[in-house]
Amino acid sequence: KITRKFVDGLPKAELHVHIEGTLEPDLEFKLAKRNGIDLGVSSPDQINRSYKYGLAAFLKSYYAGMQTLITEQDFYDLTWAYLKKMAKSSVKHVELFFDPQAHTSRGISFSTVINGIHQAAVDARALGVDAQLIMCFLRDFSKESARKTLIQAKPYHEKGWILGLGLDSDEHHNPPLKFMMLFAKAKTEGYHLTMHCDPDQVDTLKHIKQALEIIEVERIDHGVNIVADPDLMDFAIQKQLGFTICPISNLYIYHDMKAKPTLELLKKGALVSFNSDDPGYMGSNYIDDNYYKFAEKYHLSREDLVKIAKNSFLSSWISNTAKKFYL
Ligand code: HPA
Ligand code: ZN
Repeated sequence: KITRKFVDGLPKAELHVHIEGTLEPDLEFKLAKRNGIDLGVSSPDQINRSYKYGLAAFLKSYYAGMQTLITEQDFYDLTWAYLKKMAKSSVKHVELFFDPQAHTSRGISFSTVINGIHQAAVDARALGVDAQLIMCFLRDFSKESARKTLIQAKPYHEKGWILGLGLDSDEHHNPPLKFMMLFAKAKTEGYHLTMHCDPDQVDTLKHIKQALEIIEVERIDHGVNIVADPDLMDFAIQKQLGFTICPISNLYIYHDMKAKPTLELLKKGALVSFNSDDPGYMGSNYIDDNYYKFAEKYHLSREDLVKIAKNSFLSSWISNTAKKFYL
């Protein structure tokens, strides 16, 4: 029987969490007060975190919430709150997504964002959590905007503060190929590469194919639709591609945990990991809740969860020496 205690004690890595998506209403309320922003509510529980259906609806709420993040201290507090929670549930390693363009586009400087997040990551080492950053391009912004963002990131990448590059936001009409040249350039600069291929998007299989065959990503974020193309799925398994799957995020955005394709990928031996995506917008369900609730609903065994946790380290971008420690 799976218990909370078992899940909490299991060493794991989180590979798919958007730091801005960890913003809980309590902190949003506090930051609004600190920054003199009027949210039009008199308590945190009046902050609306609901969205009806689909990625675009979710994103609207997500981008609205982050307007309260202004100073370096705000980004620090956000990241610290998340990492402190992770330390309590045996999350040893985190690869955090951040969305610089969502901030630079409203006048916050790149350095404000990354300095705050990075300092919290440094301080979290004392809690036994190793946190690294993955910078995401917003795919609904222009190529030119992404190009400028890659240039802004350069000094921080060279200092070792940014481990990889991702692609997120609204997928409709924004295929991986739109950013082909930039990802190719980033690869030569030593970035690890991953990309979102959210569930059930328009052209979803085409996007997965482009990410795998042309961009040559090392992981896919979500990617559950790959099961509709058995050849492509076998290819991904052969290549030991990581699938960072987010069951509760799927439940919130698509009203479906996507258990069927997730279980099929697991059964076929794909490197599936469980992750939280945007816990501040998804009922405060963190990575441990994703392990526990999926396992309980679909009767996974302890061995299954151990496998998923091992997959999370295997598909992470920690050194091979560090990997051996967890496998
Ligand atoms: N998909 C795409 N973009 C996002 C997500 C997601 O799940 N979360 C935050 N930005
Ligand atoms: Zn995501």
